Amino acid sequence: MSGDLSEVLSAANAALANNSIDNVDPATRMQLLGVLDQLRGALEPPRMTVVNYSISYYVLTAIRVSQGMGIFDAFSQAQGSKQLTVDELDAKTKGDRALLARLMRYLCANKIFKEVGDAAYEPFPIALDLASVPGDMIKHFYLNMRTSSFLYEYFEKNGYRIPTDAYDAPFQFSQNTKQHFFEFLDAHPEDQAAFNSVMTLTRSVTGVNWHEFFPVAEKLQVSPAESESRALLVDIGGGIGHDISTFKNAFPDLPGRLIVQDLPQAIKDIPPNSLPAGIEAMSYDMFEEQPVVGAKAYYMRTVLHDWPDKQGLDVLARIHAAMSEDSVLLVNENTLSEANIAAIPATLDLVMMQTFSSLDRTEQQWIALLEKAQFQVVKVWRPDVEKASHAIYEAVAKKSG
Ligand SMILES: C[S@@+](CC[C@H](N)C(=O)[O-])C[C@H]1O[C@@H](n2cnc3c(N)ncnc32)[C@H](O)[C@@H]1O
Repeated sequence: MSGDLSEVLSAANAALANNSIDNVDPATRMQLLGVLDQLRGALEPPRMTVVNYSISYYVLTAIRVSQGMGIFDAFSQAQGSKQLTVDELDAKTKGDRALLARLMRYLCANKIFKEVGDAAYEPFPIALDLASVPGDMIKHFYLNMRTSSFLYEYFEKNGYRIPTDAYDAPFQFSQNTKQHFFEFLDAHPEDQAAFNSVMTLTRSVTGVNWHEFFPVAEKLQVSPAESESRALLVDIGGGIGHDISTFKNAFPDLPGRLIVQDLPQAIKDIPPNSLPAGIEAMSYDMFEEQPVVGAKAYYMRTVLHDWPDKQGLDVLARIHAAMSEDSVLLVNENTLSEANIAAIPATLDLVMMQTFSSLDRTEQQWIALLEKAQFQVVKVWRPDVEKASHAIYEAVAKKSG
């Protein structure tokens, strides 16, 4: 082994032996992960990579089945006891003991649990995480995987053409349905609940809220005289109000109404008392006339990316019609770079395609869509983080004539 690499190996082994990895600061952690990715790429023989690709979907599958049996809930509910024996776990879960044993063997091999002593298991932190909101991400992506597993057949049938119809995407093909994804969610409450929950996670991964890089105090004001009646911000397609809640908590005293709008199925999933006082929740279909007229700001986060241009333009027309002279539109959206896109945003773009016949757009594509909808983009705001994958498009309605 070359001297350089044997030093890397010794340093890594020493860090693992001393448990010093727990104390790595976030920036170093990300740097190390980047280097590890590169090292793996350089070291892994192609055949090994192919094997890993071929079996990777099984992690998602096994976790989803384990959720169904209640394995993660059993550990999370056993709070006090760190370990559970096979008998204890069997008593707390659904189904065959033999299936439980085989799944636990798989989960241990994948470092989700570890086998301890004589027929007992101990969870790694990720196992306990999977009993909460991150577990909903597994449920949501399991549904996505069901569509992905039909992609090859879909494209063979349609001649490898990009889907463009929101009601005839690979999703409809895989589910043999005519329902749009959001109609399907309405009819499948467990999938709807997982979707709503996952939406609360997406941005917290990057750690930067939009109002930390958009100049709220300068741009978003309504006069005290109109503060009773005028909306300061309408969060269209705001899900269960998680995003507008962070805004309210950051700016508790700004005058003006704060309104979250979404389909009834999302609004009814807002947990009781979860919204900070002062936020109004409103059932509203964004393809219908906007009932809140003349708001200071109409805001949408990762709503338009769910739709191809045709429907995107319809939604934007409804907003345009409701705006007054000094209203602004804030579109907070995934924004793909023109080249060298990282794996996660590149994957999410394919998710948009298969689920909605939609896409994650580049800055140029966002600006073109907004211009086509008769908006003028005043400024594109980006968070001050390396490789930010989202931006805010601040736009005003173009004057007609
Ligand atoms: C990708 S999620 C984004 C949720 C939230 N804005 C966020 O960033 O976490 C898209 C949202 O659009 C909502 N939506 C879909 N169709 C809608 C419609 N016709 N009218 C209003 N909201 C809609 C969905 O229910 C969902 O909450």
